[in-house]
Amino acid sequence: MMRKIHIAVLMLFIGAVSVFPEGKSEGASAGEALPIPPELSGSNLRLEAAEGELKLPFGTSSTYGYNGDYLGPTVRVSRDDYIKFQIENKLSESTTVHWHGLHVPAEFDGGPHQVIMPGETWKPEFQIAQNAATLWYHPHLMGKTAEHVYRGLAGLFIIDDEYSMALPIPKTYGVNDIPLIFQDRRFDRQGGFDYRPGRPDLMHGYIGNAVLVNGAYLPELKLDGGTYRFRLLNGSNSSIYRFSFKDSRMFTVIAGDGGFLPESVRTDKLIISPGERFEILIDFKTPGEAGLVLEIYGSETYEVMTVSVGGAQGEFFPHPADFVYESEDFSSADLNERNFIMETRGMGIFTINGRQMDMDVLNFTLDKDSNERWFVANRGMGMMNIPHSFHVHDTQFRVLSFNGRRPPALYAGPKDTILLMPGDEAVIGVSFKDYTGIYMYHCHLLEHEDSGMMGQFKIE
Ligand code: C2O
Ligand code: CU
Repeated sequence: MMRKIHIAVLMLFIGAVSVFPEGKSEGASAGEALPIPPELSGSNLRLEAAEGELKLPFGTSSTYGYNGDYLGPTVRVSRDDYIKFQIENKLSESTTVHWHGLHVPAEFDGGPHQVIMPGETWKPEFQIAQNAATLWYHPHLMGKTAEHVYRGLAGLFIIDDEYSMALPIPKTYGVNDIPLIFQDRRFDRQGGFDYRPGRPDLMHGYIGNAVLVNGAYLPELKLDGGTYRFRLLNGSNSSIYRFSFKDSRMFTVIAGDGGFLPESVRTDKLIISPGERFEILIDFKTPGEAGLVLEIYGSETYEVMTVSVGGAQGEFFPHPADFVYESEDFSSADLNERNFIMETRGMGIFTINGRQMDMDVLNFTLDKDSNERWFVANRGMGMMNIPHSFHVHDTQFRVLSFNGRRPPALYAGPKDTILLMPGDEAVIGVSFKDYTGIYMYHCHLLEHEDSGMMGQFKIE
């Protein structure tokens, strides 16, 4: 029964674009050049969270940003670097900064335990101990994550390594290696951001009616012909996106959350749930325009960005078919196993294993340097078939099976966030090394997370 509902829901989403009305943009003018977040690199990095203002065709919003009005710089580091941050909270309220996807000591993870009070400076420092990947950072204050991210606190965190630097793929940031942070927002009558979730929003997540790319509305990216790498982040609160090009052109997916895929995937569409990242390669051969389109699950379809390809020819690269890939072995029968049952128990009541987040409760403990197999399921509930996702801190997991089968190729690489539509279940292999302390796991639909769909575990 559950199976059938689930397939029907997903088919509707993947198959039939026509059931979604065309996106409307209320006559707002567009065409601003795509903003590229500046890079922040070196071994001493400063971030400052402060209030700002964002001008959009709809009006002006009061926002939060890191080192600027909205969003933050792209932190750019290399494997083995030792980096020290100074993070100053210039807001009038507490916040935190969490490194999503990063293997990091618990005390510097930036979860709900590492609160930065107004006026304080937090100084996390750590070594980068993982492969090249596109990660990101955002606040994680208990009960306030959704609102802080919505106001604009988020940025990319890119790791390079020897392998990624040696690959013959586009690597020039902002030139042929383009970060794209997608976020939908709802606007009030004055044209400002409107974050006042009502009951249905707590259920389905706060879905917007306009999509921003790197904080701009319907921006334009001007390019020469050539091969481009787009790093895609779904930085929305709770919207599940189906990304495609207006003309359904094909592209090559080369990396997921935690790095390169064992085998690249040719496709014309990509489902990206909140917090997930993908890297794609795409060739622009002939001059003209290409539109990027996002369909929001359960909502509308929007054209979100225009790529204008000029007459000049830039550099073309072959699309690699596969990448060097190593994984721990999670097949041993002796591995410890755990269940994570995600359920909708009523209006805005979401649980994992029947519990809601409680800062005073440690949900489980595990041993340092251990591998485990986790069974994660979205059990839905009656008519309330709500999607959830599962995110774990400190580690990149391996999807061992998805709905009892070999995982889809897009899930074959390292991941930290996985979308589970109602009825879906996955077995993931998790590995915790080097550090001890408390980390979080939760649904990355931020309205769900804030309403308690989260837990904490201790590595000892
Ligand atoms: Cu992207 Cu626990 O968060
Ligand atoms: Cu959820």
